[in-house]
Amino acid sequence: MKKLIGPFTRILPLTGLDLKGALKDDDLRVILHGGVLVEDGLIVAVDDFEKLRKKISPALIEEVEGDHVLLPGFIDCHTHICFAGSRAKDYAMRIAGKSYLEIAKAGGGIWDSVTQTRASDEDVLTELLLQRAERHLAEGVTTIEVKSGYGLDTQSELKQLRAIKAASAKTKADLVPTCLAAHMVPKDFEGSQSEYLSYVFHDLLPVIRHDELSNRVDIFIEQSAFDTKNALIYLNRAKLMGFDLTIHADQFTTGGSRVAVKVGAASADHLEASKAKEIKLLAGSNTVAVVLPGASLGLGMHYAPARKLLDAGACVAIASDWNPGSAPMGDLMMQAAVMSAAEKLTTAEVFAGLTFRAAKALNLTDRGILAQGMQAQMQAYPCTDYREILYHQGKMKPQLVYTFSS
Ligand code: NIG
Ligand code: FE
Repeated sequence: MKKLIGPFTRILPLTGLDLKGALKDDDLRVILHGGVLVEDGLIVAVDDFEKLRKKISPALIEEVEGDHVLLPGFIDCHTHICFAGSRAKDYAMRIAGKSYLEIAKAGGGIWDSVTQTRASDEDVLTELLLQRAERHLAEGVTTIEVKSGYGLDTQSELKQLRAIKAASAKTKADLVPTCLAAHMVPKDFEGSQSEYLSYVFHDLLPVIRHDELSNRVDIFIEQSAFDTKNALIYLNRAKLMGFDLTIHADQFTTGGSRVAVKVGAASADHLEASKAKEIKLLAGSNTVAVVLPGASLGLGMHYAPARKLLDAGACVAIASDWNPGSAPMGDLMMQAAVMSAAEKLTTAEVFAGLTFRAAKALNLTDRGILAQGMQAQMQAYPCTDYREILYHQGKMKPQLVYTFSS
């Protein structure tokens, strides 16, 4: 069914902007007093409201009252929101100055979330995930990537991925599942890194393919997780099986981004430790550089070099990394706004990083801009000047959120 939504004081369709590199606010196209014509969940036209009004019966108009700036819905291309329990204890220890090792020794870290998630049944996990997805959706995040990675054995990873599928059917947000069974070698696995990855490859990935639980594979390349050699073998095998690839790269030490470019990963995420060499490599590739300010805020660390990446010509997306350990806040807009002040990103670069550039990180070509044929995922902020949105550093939330995909 057709309908016309509007008028919006201003629409920023985010069309005509480069996929890679720096962007200026002057490049942003702005439609004054605009409307969006939608049919069966897809955008038919984005144009002057009065012009569109003439083409449609008044009964099919969804009138918008008051001043609003309309943007595409945000796409959070990196989250871990399928988990049970809390890691408040880790956080308290961290802000009291304890090291990663001391926290792990006290029973904290990823393994703590694995233990709590394994102990949770599928329905409870689904409900917890659903609550987080709904909170994100209310804040304008209409597409949410969700990783497994707190199961770390076949049954528990499948439980997480099934919970993501179940939650997906219950929310109007679009959930994109990713298998992160390669988050760390589980403490109860008797064997080496390569033996664990081989177990995941033989025991888990075929079931995920067969049951259509995910078409994306992620790995954490880091001293505490997997080395580049084993990661390369695993990723190439997963790629041959048909999975898209994404990598937790260069968070504390470099190496991961090089692997990401080598295997043609859709994205390399984190990059806090990336230096000139890694920046150049990413900028010259088709791999999206995903920066995660929420992890920097949660860990009290510096941000990834987003400005340098953009100036070098990289495609930079911004995601929340929402997880119980390093990024518990889960407010994507607040994180992007705060980082943009420190890194000196333009509004155009932030909006691009939260929309069409994030869509590219997920290999999704049907969203992220407001244009004909795109999914009608949209959000409207209560203001007249789009610059108000970042100015409020995340406290201004959208008043209207539209999804027509489910
Ligand atoms: O993206 N870096 C690895 N994994 C997560 C942290 C997960 C956790 O601490 O539970 C991240 O920051
Ligand atoms: Fe992460």
